[in-house]
Amino acid sequence: MTNILEELQLPNGTTIKNRFMKAATSETMGDKNYRPTAELINLYKVWADGGTGLIITGNVMVDQTARGEFGNVVVEDTQNIELLKQWAKAGTQNGAKIFMQLNHPGKQSPKTISKQPVSASAVPMEGSNSFAFNTPRALTNNEIKTIVQKFINAAVVAKEAGFSGVEIHAAHGYLLSQFLSPHDNQRVDEYGGSLENRMRLLVEIYTGMREKLGSDFPIALKINSSDLRSGGFSEEDSLKVIQKMDQLGIDLIEISGGNYEKPTVQGIGKGAFFIDYAAKVKQSVKAPVAVTGGFSTANGMSKAIENNEADFIGLARPIVLIPDLPNQFEVGNFTAIQLHHLSTGLKGLDKKVGSLVGLSYYQQQMFRVAKQLPVQITENAWSSLGFAVKRQGLSAFIPQRG
Ligand SMILES: Cc1cc2nc3c(=O)[nH]c(=O)nc-3n(C[C@H](O)[C@H](O)[C@H](O)COP(=O)(O)O)c2cc1C
Repeated sequence: MTNILEELQLPNGTTIKNRFMKAATSETMGDKNYRPTAELINLYKVWADGGTGLIITGNVMVDQTARGEFGNVVVEDTQNIELLKQWAKAGTQNGAKIFMQLNHPGKQSPKTISKQPVSASAVPMEGSNSFAFNTPRALTNNEIKTIVQKFINAAVVAKEAGFSGVEIHAAHGYLLSQFLSPHDNQRVDEYGGSLENRMRLLVEIYTGMREKLGSDFPIALKINSSDLRSGGFSEEDSLKVIQKMDQLGIDLIEISGGNYEKPTVQGIGKGAFFIDYAAKVKQSVKAPVAVTGGFSTANGMSKAIENNEADFIGLARPIVLIPDLPNQFEVGNFTAIQLHHLSTGLKGLDKKVGSLVGLSYYQQQMFRVAKQLPVQITENAWSSLGFAVKRQGLSAFIPQRG
């Protein structure tokens, strides 16, 4: 029986010292030139010191003109390599490994950032958050090639800066997710139609990266179990994409789910939402599998590893609130965390600002941790609301993430 504190060697030889993985949490701590700030670097020191074996950064954008959120870091070239080196160094303290998550938002780039976002096809966003996004236009074939190159460039810079690996973000409804989904991707060229065509962008990015990075540099993939809509990316499709990426030599697969149209399933439901699917994936691939979303108890985390349902436990909100959760676990001080639903006390207002508050609370806590301040555990939404408005003005009210 495997213990959660046991190390694991990825197939390429990289050793991760335990099975705790900090899942990506967009910190929004980039400066106005999209560079990492001292705060961001501090935060990663704290997380590395806290005992996590594998740390995934918040999503880093590969294209300055296509950003998902206010405060994103962008990596297109070596211009800011010194700052990136400091970030990588902070995240590799204490024997931790740090992977840079690389992303392109596609149509999930809000109006405040993109007048006209791009996607596989000109399919507008749906659902209650859709008012915040302009209808995308379809990328040309040449533009797709440029995006492939941008992902590869960013990965090369990450390696040069000293990151331990990269993670391709193909989950949560962003560009790569959009290409995978038959709902969002209605192309009739080689990037649309069959599953093989819909996954072509992802495969080109991966193989291009592999060629430049070599076989011993870890490349991970974050992917949805499905996008939970009929006519969308199904679990069957997901498994086929995962198996293909496994054959191609991907080093780690992180299972997640949801998107801006279905934010409630981004693991924010009750319990470890994707564990059954992760277990199924684990049976059918040779790459290690991480599962993220909804873990809150020491027992639940341990059991998933002991039962061989996953190789890594991805934790986002719990590690934001308890940055040294793995250290606490090791000495028996961590048993469970309660993730509260924040409320303003006003039902009507809660309905309107619920998702903003849910997100800005965690961003606010990351800023506190970065400044060596204690995390504030609260159910009161007002402070987080104030934090969001203070940083972004009224545009805070435009949803940027589910
Ligand atoms: C503040 C915040 C920022 C997030 N940023 C990212 C991101 O940049 N990339 C990503 O793949 N997921 C992101 N997520 C999703 C988490 O990685 C994770 O999949 C989700 O929160 C469920 O895990 P949890 O139940 O442990 O929080 C974010 C979540 C939160 C709360």
